[in-house]
Amino acid sequence: MARFIIALTIVVVTVITRISCCDVVKLTFPSGFSLGTASASYQVEGAWNVSDKGVNVWDYHTHNRPELISDGRNGDVACNSYYKYQEDVALIKKIGFDFYRFSISWSRVLPTGFANVISEDGLQYYKNLTAELVANGIEPVVTIYHWDHPKVIEDMGGWTNELIVGWFVDYAEILFEALGDSVKRWITINEPDSFCNGGYNGVRKAPAKQIPASIGKYLCGHNVLKAHAKTFRLYDEKFRETQGGEVGIVLPLKAYLPFNASYEEEAETAFQFNCGWMAHPIYHGDYPDVMKTRVALVSEYQGYPWSRLPEFSDEWIAIINGTNDYFGVNHYTSELVYPDPDEEQGIYTYDNGLLTTVDSSWAASASDWLYVNPSGFGYLLRKIRDEYNNPPVWVTENGYSDSGELDDYNRISYYYEYVREMLIAIKRDGCNVEGYAVWSILDNFEWQDGYEKRFGITYVEFDDADTNRTAKLSQTWWTKVLSKRKLQSVPTSTNTRTRLPWKK
Ligand SMILES: *[C@@H]1O[C@H](CO)[C@@H](O)[C@H](O)[C@H]1NC(C)=O
Ligand SMILES: *[C@@H]1O[C@H](CO)[C@@H](O)[C@H](O)[C@H]1NC(C)=O
Ligand SMILES: *[C@@H]1O[C@H](CO)[C@@H](O)[C@H](O)[C@H]1NC(C)=O
Ligand SMILES: *[C@@H]1O[C@H](CO)[C@@H](O)[C@H](O)[C@H]1NC(C)=O
Ligand SMILES: *[C@@H]1O[C@H](CO)[C@@H](O)[C@H](O)[C@H]1NC(C)=O
Repeated sequence: MARFIIALTIVVVTVITRISCCDVVKLTFPSGFSLGTASASYQVEGAWNVSDKGVNVWDYHTHNRPELISDGRNGDVACNSYYKYQEDVALIKKIGFDFYRFSISWSRVLPTGFANVISEDGLQYYKNLTAELVANGIEPVVTIYHWDHPKVIEDMGGWTNELIVGWFVDYAEILFEALGDSVKRWITINEPDSFCNGGYNGVRKAPAKQIPASIGKYLCGHNVLKAHAKTFRLYDEKFRETQGGEVGIVLPLKAYLPFNASYEEEAETAFQFNCGWMAHPIYHGDYPDVMKTRVALVSEYQGYPWSRLPEFSDEWIAIINGTNDYFGVNHYTSELVYPDPDEEQGIYTYDNGLLTTVDSSWAASASDWLYVNPSGFGYLLRKIRDEYNNPPVWVTENGYSDSGELDDYNRISYYYEYVREMLIAIKRDGCNVEGYAVWSILDNFEWQDGYEKRFGITYVEFDDADTNRTAKLSQTWWTKVLSKRKLQSVPTSTNTRTRLPWKK
C-alpha cells in the first residue's frame, strides 16, 4: 500500500510538473502581445535618385567602394519599395502582422542634409506609407535613423562630429511634426554598435573609415547617446502630451555565454561592452565601470595620455539617464567568451580583454556571424530583465539568413526555436517583452553581403526589373502562427524548391 501511494504520488507529481511545464510552454502569445515585421529604407526602397533626394553615405559607399560589397551591388533599386509600398502593405496585411517597422531616409526628407529644405515628395512618401498602414489596421513603427545619413554630414565627420546631435534633432523634429499623429512608436537610432564599429573602426559598413584603436567607434557611440537623449527630451517637451507615443533606441545584442564555468565574469564583461555601452548610460547614467576601467587601462598601455572612451559631463549624464520608454532589442546569435591568453604575458590587445568563439553544435546560416543558439535568446532576455529593472522590451529584429531557398525549413525551425525561448522567458521568467518583429518581410540589400544573404520570409527577384515577390514556406508558416496566435510545429522537409526557375 505504502509503495502504491509512493508510486501514485510520483505519477501525480510528474503529471503536475508536466502540466505546469506545458502550460508555460503552451506556445500561445500573451494577450495584447504585438507581432510585426521590419525593414530599413536603404535595404528596400531603391529610388535612390528620384525627385530631390540627397546622396547618403550608403549611396556613396556602394557607388564608390563596390569592392567592399560581396557582390559589388547596391541599393539603387533594391526591392523597389518606394514604388511598391502599397503591395508591401497588402502583403503585410495578408500575412496578418500587427505592426510594420520601417525606417526613414534622412536624405530623402532633407535633401541638403539640414532642416533648411524639406523635400515635399520625400516626406509625402512616408506620409503615404504611414497612411496606407493605418488604413489597413497595421501599426506603423518608425526608425528615424537606420544607417543612411546624408553624405554632406559625413563630409564633416558624421557621427564623430558632435554637431551631428543638433542636426539629428532638427531632422527628428520634422518627423514628429509630420507623422506623429499616426506614429506612436519611435526608434531614434538602430544598432549603434553595428555602424559605429563597422563604419568608423573598419570597412564593413559605410562610411568605411578605419580610425585606429576604436577612437572613432567610441566617439560615434558617444554622439549617438547624445543624439538619442536630446531627441527623447525634445519629444518630452514638445510632443508627448499631444501625441502620446513612445521613444526608444534599438541595440544589436548577442548572447555572450561563458566558454565554460570558469568564465562567468568574462561573459559579464562582454555583455557590458556590447549592451552596457549604450544601455548603462540610458538606464544608469554612465558607461559601465568595467568599460571605463578596461579602456583606460588599455589606452594607458598603448601610450595614450587619456582614455579612448570619452567621458560625459554631469550635465550630459542627467540628460541621457532615463531616456528609454522601452528597450529595443535586435537579436540573432550567441558567442562563447574566454579571456585573451596574451594578457597573462602583459600584452593588452583588446579593450575587453576577451576572445570569442562559437559552439560546434550550433547550426550555421548563410551569414558568417550568425550561428543558431535559441537558448541564448532566453539568456539575453533574462539578463536585460535583471540589469535594467525589467523594462518593457520590444524585439525589433530576429531572423535567419540562407541563400534563397523557397522551402526554407531552416528559417521556420529558427523562428520556432527562438520564439519558443522568448515565450518561456515571458511566461516562466516574467520578462516584460511586449512586441516582436520578424526580420524581414522581404529579402533585401544585406549591406556588405549585397543580395547574396537572404533574410526574407518573402523571396524577391532582384535580377529582374519587376522585382517580383514570391512567398517562401516561412511566410505561409507565419500566416498560420498569426491567425492562431500560437506557435505552429515545424513542417518536415519534403521536396525542396531551392530557387525560382528564372534565378540565374
Ligand atoms: C538615377 O540612377 C539611375 C541608375 O541607378 C540612372 O540610370 C538614372 O539616369 C538616374 N536618374 C537621374 C534622374 O539622375
Ligand atoms: C502619395 O500618394 C499620392 C496619392 O495616392 C500619389 O499621387 C503620390 O504619387 C504618392 N507619393 C509618393 C512619393 O509615393
Ligand atoms: C575552462 O577552460 C579553460 C581553458 O580550456 C580551462 O583551463 C579551465 O579549467 C576550464 N574550466 C572549467 C570549469 O572547465
Ligand atoms: C539615473 O537615474 C536613476 C533613476 O532616476 C537614478 O537612481 C540614478 O541615480 C541616476 N544615475 C546617475 C548617475 O545620475
Ligand atoms: C512579375 O509579376 C507581374 C504581375 O504578376 C507579371 O506580369 C510579370 O510577368 C512578373 N515578372 C516576372 C519576371 O516574372
